[in-house]
Order: sequence, then structure tokens, then C-alpha cells
Amino acid sequence: MTVAAIEAVDVSRTYELDGVSVPALRGVSLTIAQGEYVAVIGPSGSGKSTLMHLLGGLDRPTGGRLVIGGRDVATLTAPELATLRNETIGFVFQAFHLLPRTSAVDNVALPLVYRGVGARQRRERAAAMLGRVGLGHRLTHRPNQLSGGEQQRVAIARALVTDPAVLLADEPTGNLDSATGEAVLELLERLNAESGVALVMVTHDPEVAVRARRRIAVRDGLIRSDTVHDRPLSGGDGRPETLDTAPSAEPRSASGSGPGHPSGGSGGATGATGRLPRTGGTGAQAAPGGAG
Ligand SMILES: Nc1ncnc2c1ncn2[C@@H]1O[C@H](COP(=O)(O)OP(=O)(O)O)[C@@H](O)[C@H]1O
Ligand SMILES: [Mg+2]
Repeated sequence: MTVAAIEAVDVSRTYELDGVSVPALRGVSLTIAQGEYVAVIGPSGSGKSTLMHLLGGLDRPTGGRLVIGGRDVATLTAPELATLRNETIGFVFQAFHLLPRTSAVDNVALPLVYRGVGARQRRERAAAMLGRVGLGHRLTHRPNQLSGGEQQRVAIARALVTDPAVLLADEPTGNLDSATGEAVLELLERLNAESGVALVMVTHDPEVAVRARRRIAVRDGLIRSDTVHDRPLSGGDGRPETLDTAPSAEPRSASGSGPGHPSGGSGGATGATGRLPRTGGTGAQAAPGGAG
């Protein structure tokens, strides 16, 4: 049986700031299956980034249970969690977060240093990954010699060079103009369809969110809805299907095929997406758990 890529059960995260408790997440349950495409939406301050940090093991919950790649993060030391993160998760942020004085190829190769991959192989894999994101001709450019869209492509290549199970993207097009953002979005969707990496993407743009097969709405630190859709909405015709109903397992190609999606539907590698978690739905709106 396929193990969920990430499983969160009643997870909470309360920040302590100047003696004040800020309950950013108040009991969230969800499962990310292998290969799926999930949009996370919600107003500013609702806890989306906090959730992404937790799902990726950048931070730990203050309550609840979080299992990444089959391992309960509560049982891991900091170095063990870092290793798990390196093996399982790729991150893409709004602000790219590239090393400024480092070439594109060396930025992309960096996660492989922590894997103990030799220098030559690191560069080969990084160059190949840059080729996959359309930057094979920009290997030695530094970030300030690249456009915003190119920098985000470098960041995507860096996130995927380790072949992670899950790509977490927190408003990846937020710093880009709409045409560049669209191209980055299409790239993410193509990589999701082609390589089977699960894509979990925060967006504030409803038009972007409707391209994902599954949409999770976060508000005030809780999941307000978690729905799957047979096909992308294009003007409100598609009906959401809650996770408590039994969605039919359907070909992967339905999820990544938003308007203008360039993928020819090489979805065979990602059949796990038809199996949707049953733990979410309205039950995800658990009472605040452990949030002070
Ligand atoms: N490091 C932190 N320390 C204290 N409060 C924080 C911290 N990070 C986020 N918060 C607070 O937690 C809440 C959720 O923040 P965040 O997850 O960044 O929301 P979103 O990404 O949806 O805009 C907000 O009220 C925010 O101010
Ligand atoms: Mg945020």
C-alpha cells in the first residue's frame, strides 16, 4: 500500500512572541498523497505559510502529529529532520532565496552537497535539472544576471534536483508579473505531471487555485474546506466533491490540465492521486487543539 507523502493529524502551531501566544494553526488534519496537485488558499495571516513550513519539516508543530515520508517528526533529532527534509521535500518560495554570489548551477547543486554527492556528479545533475526548467543556457549566470522568472526556475530546479516526493511552493508567482507567473505555473504543473512529485502550492489567486484538482481553504488557522474536483473549473461549472464522498479514481491527466497547460498528459507515473485521503473534509475543522 502506498504510504502518504505527508500526514498531519490535528496539528497546531502557536508562536510565542514577546510573551504573547499567537495561535497560527489551531488543529489541522490533512494527508498529501503521492503525486497530487493541491492548491492552498486563504487570506493573509490565515496560517498558510506556517502550514507549509510544518508540512516540509522546516518547523515543528506545538501540538498534534506530523508524519513526513512515513516518519513521525516528533521522534527525530534536528539533524535527522534535516536529512528527512533533504530526502523528501523541495521548497519554492515567493522570494526565490538563491545564494546571490553563486552561479545557477551551483545554487541548484547545493542540496546534493548535503547528500554527499561528488562534485562532478552534482554539477551534472544540476545542469540536467536546469535543462528541464529551460535554463540549460544559463548555467553560470548569477541570480542578479537573471530575470525574476529565471531566478524562480533556478529555485524550482534546486527544489527538484534531489528528486523529492513533495514540492511545497509558497506563492511561487507572487513576485512575478502575470505572464512570467503563468509560465512558472505551467512549469510547476508540467513537472508535477511528468515526474510525479506532489505539488502543494499556496496561492492567493482564485484563478490559479481552480487549476488544482484539490483545493484546501485555510482561515484563522483552520482548514475550512478541502475539496477535490474532477476537472479544473472554468467559470463555476464544476462541482466540488468533498473528501467524505468517494471520488472515483480517475486518470492523473485531469488534474494538471489547466488552460494552456503544456503537458501532453504523461500521467502514468502518478496513479496514486486517484486515492484521496478520507481524513479531511469537515472533520478537519477540529476544535483548537493545544493552541494557547
Ligand atoms: N515567526 C512568527 N512569530 C510570531 N508570529 C508569527 C510568526 N510567523 C507567523 N506568525 C503569525 O501567525 C499567523 C499566520 O501567519 P502565516 O502562516 O505567515 O500566514 P499566511 O501565510 O497565511 O499569510 C499570523 O498572525 C502571523 O502574524
Ligand atoms: Mg504566507
